[in-house]
Amino acid sequence: MKVAILGTGYVGLSTGVALAEIGHDVCCIDVDGEKIKQLNQAVSPIYEPGLEELLIRNLASDRLKFTTSHRDGVSGAEIVILAVGTPQGEDGAADLTFLEQAAKDLAAHLEPNTIVVIKSTVPVGTNDEVKRIIEANCSEEVSVRIVSNPEFLRQGSAMKDTLEAERIIIGSDDQGAAEKVKEMYRPLHVPCIVTTLRSAEMIKYASNAFLATKISFINGIANLCEAVGADVNDVARGMGMDKRIGEAFLQAGIGYGGSCFPKDVKALYHAAKQSGKDLGLLAETMKINEEQRVLLVKKALNRFNGKLTGKKIAMLGLAFKPETDDMREAPSIEMAKLLHEHGAEVIAYDPVATKNAKKVIGDRVSYACSILEAVNGADAVLIVTEWDEIKQLDVAGLVEKMKHPIIFDGRNCLDEEKIRACQNIEYYPVGRPAI
Ligand code: UGA
Repeated sequence: MKVAILGTGYVGLSTGVALAEIGHDVCCIDVDGEKIKQLNQAVSPIYEPGLEELLIRNLASDRLKFTTSHRDGVSGAEIVILAVGTPQGEDGAADLTFLEQAAKDLAAHLEPNTIVVIKSTVPVGTNDEVKRIIEANCSEEVSVRIVSNPEFLRQGSAMKDTLEAERIIIGSDDQGAAEKVKEMYRPLHVPCIVTTLRSAEMIKYASNAFLATKISFINGIANLCEAVGADVNDVARGMGMDKRIGEAFLQAGIGYGGSCFPKDVKALYHAAKQSGKDLGLLAETMKINEEQRVLLVKKALNRFNGKLTGKKIAMLGLAFKPETDDMREAPSIEMAKLLHEHGAEVIAYDPVATKNAKKVIGDRVSYACSILEAVNGADAVLIVTEWDEIKQLDVAGLVEKMKHPIIFDGRNCLDEEKIRACQNIEYYPVGRPAI
């Protein structure tokens, strides 16, 4: 099948590479000429495990192409996928500017009968609006066949999540178009659910909002566990064994970040309000998350009697989660800002996100090239992102380098046995008894 994709961000690029891998003839289009040049040389603009290997293989087999030309990309395509960003607008609602522009760019070259698939995360009703925009901007009178096909991949495991998805949602009021999109995905052998356009749009938001709420719920319980002397890891394990609850997304810590949960929870809350429904539950999800992001700084302030001036604090990890260099909505940003405001001298380390971190955190912190360089002479260490390298670090070696062996573990990821084996260490996890 010939497929065109507009937008080469996380979703567009992963989808394009995956569809080429399962045998389709894919052309990815982006307005960013520099990015397209890089991609044609098999250089991925994002850090994503496994992506570059598939990029190289599918470029070489000629199943995958990249272009800035809408005309070349869309020409002859049976399916065109829109996968541009829908960032958060100033009022909390999703900003649809890129999507509207992509729809207009596409309209000029759309051939009759081509199916337009929207993968971008969009508020309910947007697919209908995109259909209207395309139809209004087409040179000929065409009835656009539109399908909503939200994406559920996670950064850091984007290729695996795309190639081994748990479900594919196909929303359309055009049965033939839905069947065609189902056929495109057939080689993946993943269960497909066909719904209306609006239900598909809602499934995406409801899924992200539910997962974010699960995280805030366990973080709320974690804070209570600390107050009453329980251990949130045991609580999550005990809860998660009930299949109705499930063990996933019950990892307590410093809150959710990234380009999806924060903006999607806000957008759904906002959309509900516009429809006259107050989803107060989501307001609480967001409130807990805001507080959780600065939890480690509060704990450090508490430990140092409210004074961080002149204290050397090491932050280990900066990315919003491991296996990505993405800093969007990373809890580390707010933490660094607050530590700086309190006069701490902060030195940070991340295996891959330093370049992106510098753009958002700037010189509020200095950047180390290794864990040991970051912790050298530190009064305290804050564990921010659970990279393998950080989880597996030699606690005894780390403590030896520090001025005071005080560790605040925002991801509950250090090995407890290694901690207990060290003398004089002070270890403060989240929602668990300190050591
Ligand atoms: C999320 C969803 O998991 C995907 O299904 C969805 O497709 C994607 O958003 C999207 O809408 O594009 P992603 O943001 O890449 O994926 O990452 P997650 O693995 O879901 O983690 C999000 C945040 O939650 C991270 O900051 C992570 O540290 C935090 N988290 C996750 C927890 O604090 N505890 C947990 O138990 C799980």
